[in-house]
Amino acid sequence: MEQYIIKGGNPLVGEVSISGAKNAALGILAATIMANESVYISNLPDVRDINVLLEAIADTGAIVERRGRHDVRINGATINNYVVENNFIKKMRASYYLLGAMLGKYHHAEVSLPGGCDIGSRPIDQHLKGFRALGATAVVRNGMIVVDARQLVGAHIYFDMVSVGATINVMLAATMAVGRTVLENVAKEPHVVDVANLLNTMGANIKGAGTDVIRIEGVRLLHGGDYSVIPDQIEAGTFLFGAALTKGDVTVKNVIPKHLDCLTSKLREIGCEVSECDDQVRVVAKQRLRSANVKTLPYPGFPTDMQPQMTVVLALSEGTSIVTESIFENRFKYVDELRRMGAEIFVEGNSAIIRGVPELTGTPVTAPDLRAGAALVLAGLAADGVTVVDDIKFILRGYEDFAEKLQGLGGEIKLIKNEHELQKSRMMIV
Ligand code: UD1
Repeated sequence: MEQYIIKGGNPLVGEVSISGAKNAALGILAATIMANESVYISNLPDVRDINVLLEAIADTGAIVERRGRHDVRINGATINNYVVENNFIKKMRASYYLLGAMLGKYHHAEVSLPGGCDIGSRPIDQHLKGFRALGATAVVRNGMIVVDARQLVGAHIYFDMVSVGATINVMLAATMAVGRTVLENVAKEPHVVDVANLLNTMGANIKGAGTDVIRIEGVRLLHGGDYSVIPDQIEAGTFLFGAALTKGDVTVKNVIPKHLDCLTSKLREIGCEVSECDDQVRVVAKQRLRSANVKTLPYPGFPTDMQPQMTVVLALSEGTSIVTESIFENRFKYVDELRRMGAEIFVEGNSAIIRGVPELTGTPVTAPDLRAGAALVLAGLAADGVTVVDDIKFILRGYEDFAEKLQGLGGEIKLIKNEHELQKSRMMIV
């Protein structure tokens, strides 16, 4: 089992280049199969989730040609299999974007029903509500969601809650429906906008992405195109919070500073210096930071995917903070691990009450999910002594070259492949 071994204590200092946004790329890759011509996608992050989706796309019969580490050509003209099997969905939930894409293009798709996960039960009722409103039938048969339509017809759909996944999935299907679709109460995340922009590059007619209402005029055909994925807001945030936590000085490069406003405003509030120019953001933390209250909300609110990293920062800040999770029901599992490092955090319902401590101490911990795993790595970098983070397969799903990038900033972190390597590294590091 792969692990990270970390010796804490070094401030993170320097510049780091941010990769393409995983969550945008997932929607974008699914969208590419809707054309019968080549679509070239660049600035793809080289992470496991993306590689699983590319395998799932290749399994449909589409041409998937990896042209470099961050570039791919996809052509959906040769698709002959409309079934996405459980092994893909099990490894990567968002394979279900192929449901909306294939329903839109072929009026039929079967995708294994995703289960719950470590951050809570994750229903997809809003996706199915949207497909049905467009005229499709959607039933669950033998563990598969089967969607079918003679014709998709534009509709006025009001989502019951703001969902990134449902917004993207229904937008994909509606792109090739007959007539006009209006989606209300949609997610406004930068990755929703990025998927809409790619679809428009391919000839779709989508307006309003990034606002509460998306208007789509269905088109009969989509064509090929060339598109670059936006930078990853969460990866950038993770490094900036690493600077805050280690009293460091980090500049993230190749970012869209506007997408980071929800994070940098909190960093300023707790005492960091933040400066921005063009496509860079710099965070400097000179002294112990202050407490703050944080509530996760859909964009442009504070992102749930940065909640664990924020909690770690507040665990070392002066005073008492409250972090409230309003998106997912079970996203504080990592708190037990942080307590083992000396944090004083008490979870009550969907809030964590954090009494800041002056230091954390290293110990073996287990990453319960992707973002919590990254947060535990940050905690290890700030802690006194050696931390071993177990089960890092989750982290590798979403962060490209995480250890290498942290090393570039002065962090002492090493990816360990087996017990023998772990023992050797322990002896060198301690
Ligand atoms: C996406 C992101 C994930 C992020 C989350 C919230 C991707 C691949 N993943 O996940 O990293 O944490 O947005 O920003 O982009 N819900 C329903 N019914 C539905 C759909 C959602 O009840 O049909 C609920 C969910 O249980 C959750 C909330 O709505 O409580 C938001 O979920 P959603 O925005 O859909 O998250 P994902 O798209 O799965």
